[in-house]
Amino acid sequence: MKKDLISIKDLTSKEIKDLFDLTAKLKKNKAKFAKSLTGKTLALIFQKPSNRTRVSFEVGMYQLGGHSLCLAPQEINLGVRESIKDVARTLSRYIDGIVIRTFEHKNCLDMAQAASVPVINGLSDFSHPCQALADVFTIKEKLKELKGITLAYVGDGNNVCNSLLFAAAKTGMNINVATPKGYSPSDEVVKLSLAIASDTGSRIKITEDPVSAVSAAQVVYTDVWASMGQEDEINKRKAIFKDFQINSRLLANASPDVLVMHCLPAHRGEEITDEVMDSRNSIVFDQAENRLHIQKAILIKLLKESR
Ligand code: CP
Ligand code: NVA
Repeated sequence: MKKDLISIKDLTSKEIKDLFDLTAKLKKNKAKFAKSLTGKTLALIFQKPSNRTRVSFEVGMYQLGGHSLCLAPQEINLGVRESIKDVARTLSRYIDGIVIRTFEHKNCLDMAQAASVPVINGLSDFSHPCQALADVFTIKEKLKELKGITLAYVGDGNNVCNSLLFAAAKTGMNINVATPKGYSPSDEVVKLSLAIASDTGSRIKITEDPVSAVSAAQVVYTDVWASMGQEDEINKRKAIFKDFQINSRLLANASPDVLVMHCLPAHRGEEITDEVMDSRNSIVFDQAENRLHIQKAILIKLLKESR
C-alpha cells in the first residue's frame, strides 16, 4: 500500500528511527545510492515560494538517479483550473510521487486521498514535516542523543512549531515552546503532543516566558514572526513579538554551548539578530543541508520501499 508523509504525528517512533538511520547512510555514502530511484519521477507543486524545499528535493531526486519536475502556482492553478483531486488522479498516471507546498493543510490531505502515488507535505499552514525531521536529525548528529535534550522554540506557534512538537514527542526529546499570548500552538496540537509524549517520556512545556524556555535548553530554535501568507501582519507582529527575539541578551540565559537553529528563510533583525545567526553557536546551514539528506531517505522509503 502506498504511504504518504503529511504530518509527523502519523509516523511511528520506529519509522523515524529507521529514517534517521537511512539518512546517516545516505549522507556518508552518496555514490552507493546513485541508482536507487532510477526511472522514477517526482512532481513538485508549489503554491508558495521556496528555496530549500524545492532545490533539495530536485537535487535529491537527481542524486538518487530519478527525475523531478516543478509545477509553479500559475501552471496548474491548483483548485481553480482543476480540482485538487483531479490533479492528483492525473499526475498519478504519469509520475511516482508528489510533493505539495500549499496554504491549507486540507489540500495535502485531499491530494493524498485522491493520488495513488505517495504524497509528501512540503509545508502547509499546519505543518512542515520534512523540516522538523531534518532538524531533529541535525540535533541528534550534533549532540549524539535526543533523550534528555531540551529544545526551546521561541516565537510564533506556527507550522514549524507544530511539527517540532510532534517530532520531539515521537523521539523522546523535551521541548519548551515560548510564544506571546494568543500565538501559542493550538490546544489540539498540544493535547496530541502530550499524548504521544506520555509514551516516549518526552517533556513538553508551553509558556509565554522566553527566558524560562531557553534557560535549561541545549538547543534554541526560532522561525519568522509572520509566515508566508501573513506578510501584511508583520508590523503588528513586530510589536507583539519583540521580547521573543533570539539575541545575545536572551541567550545569556542559556548554556554558552547552546545550539541555535532556524528553518530559514530568516528575517535578520526581527526574530534573530545577525550576531546570533552568524555566531559559532548557529547551525542553521547544517539544518538546511540535512533537508537534502533526510528527504532522500523519505523518497527511498516512500517511492521504493513501500510500494
Ligand atoms: N525551510 C524551508 O522550507 O525553506 P524554503 O521555504 O526556502 O523551502
Ligand atoms: N513558518 C514559515 C516557514 C518557512 C519555511 C512559513 O510558513 O512561511
